[in-house]
Amino acid sequence: MQDDLIAPGLHPMLAARWSPTTFDPVHEVDAGQVELLVEAARWAPSAGNSQPWAFIVGRRGDGTHRRLVRHLAASSGRWAPSASVLMANLSHRYVEDTDWEYSEFALYDLGQAVAHMTLQAQALGLFVRQFRAFDRDRVAQEFGVPVHWEVTTMSAIGRVPAGTGAPVGPIPASSRERRSVDELLWTGA
Ligand SMILES: Cc1cc2nc3c(=O)[nH]c(=O)nc-3n(C[C@H](O)[C@H](O)[C@H](O)COP(=O)(O)O)c2cc1C
Repeated sequence: MQDDLIAPGLHPMLAARWSPTTFDPVHEVDAGQVELLVEAARWAPSAGNSQPWAFIVGRRGDGTHRRLVRHLAASSGRWAPSASVLMANLSHRYVEDTDWEYSEFALYDLGQAVAHMTLQAQALGLFVRQFRAFDRDRVAQEFGVPVHWEVTTMSAIGRVPAGTGAPVGPIPASSRERRSVDELLWTGA
């Protein structure tokens, strides 16, 4: 893994964040923790304070979790069902009954809200793997999501199995490789 390449000054919460594909299958997240996760998203910044996000939240064992599991792809179906929480992340794409964009930044803002939620999860000792491997249209249909909203991604949230302090599970090492800081700095023409 690439942990040795993380600069020592990086905030420990950011340095410790990673996206598991192995979750503790008996751990449960309580309603108060779910509320805090959504609260973290609620306080994320957004363009013009448009707050173009909504979440479908299932806790393992409840009906919503079961209904979300039905629409996972074969790949995510191997690991996501054991997460304590499955969440569908929705973005407000269009003004209702029009083809006008609701906000030029709807996807950007949803991503930021989910990033805030990810760090709140980390503060609660939880890990998050965001993913696209599910049937968007079927989730939208199942939960009556109107066409001016989009089911953009899902998050699997939970604890990693006891004793696990670093990335484990069937995660290819390449999936954690990073471009260098130099490559991220655009120097112009
Ligand atoms: C928008 C988005 C979509 C993703 N889709 C998937 C996916 O479909 N399946 C999967 O296993 N991981 C998915 N991931 C997780 C990434 O592969 C992972 O974040 C990346 O490899 C970096 O690893 P890290 O989060 O542990 O640093 C997705 C992440 C994001 C942000």
